[in-house]
Amino acid sequence: MKKLIVANWKCNPASQKEAKKLFDGIAKEAKKIKKAETIVCPPFAWLAVVPQKRNDGGFTLGAQNCFFEQKGAFTGEISPVMLKDLGCKYVIAGHSERRKYFQETDEIINKKIKAGLDAKLKIIFCVGETKEQRDNDKTEIVVKNQIAAGLKDVGASKVDEVVIAYEPVWAIGTGNACSVEESQKMRLFIIKVLSEIYTPKIAREAKILYGGSVSSQNSAGYIKEAGFNGLLVGGASLNVEEFVKIIKNSA
Ligand code: PGA
Repeated sequence: MKKLIVANWKCNPASQKEAKKLFDGIAKEAKKIKKAETIVCPPFAWLAVVPQKRNDGGFTLGAQNCFFEQKGAFTGEISPVMLKDLGCKYVIAGHSERRKYFQETDEIINKKIKAGLDAKLKIIFCVGETKEQRDNDKTEIVVKNQIAAGLKDVGASKVDEVVIAYEPVWAIGTGNACSVEESQKMRLFIIKVLSEIYTPKIAREAKILYGGSVSSQNSAGYIKEAGFNGLLVGGASLNVEEFVKIIKNSA
């Protein structure tokens, strides 16, 4: 199974010119790496300037967010069908920055996941605990509740279109990545939760990613030792050389 390496550019870069340079740099190198699927999630504004190259093996396009209705009077929103029409194959849902800065609740995230699936997008569904929750031994219950709420009414026939990203909030953008051992424990816990909600077979086949301060130094450990199916990369995905090293180390 190909490893999924996701670039989450967040609200970067600031210009079209820089975005094109990043797209080109990643496409050129990623296309040579057959064992990984590289997924680039730029801000909405740069989705339309992506070079056509993405379709010839460079990378797959994803979005960082979507609305939970497909169209209508919702000023400022971007819908899943629009993303699909722009060539996106994936959309991220439930990122901790959306939960924290935009008050996205589990209920809203669940609606977005279902709307994304309805538009035939694959979902990268982020879950993870804060430092405070971890310090209070709430990590497992928090992650379990996020998964159960986010996947509410997502049937067994659709859940294979959902990739779960374990992203401990305290590890995101801090340089303080989760240890390989701890991340592996959480990967196995997520499989257990999925087997309770769905079936052991579905849980075993689920794709689970790690995210949070991934770099070319630590990336291989999450894949080769902790057994993750891929990585969600923020800061390091804005540097072509570093990001390509991460893809190569994972394949
Ligand atoms: P980071 O971000 O790699 O900069 O920690 C990861 C993410 O937020 O997806």
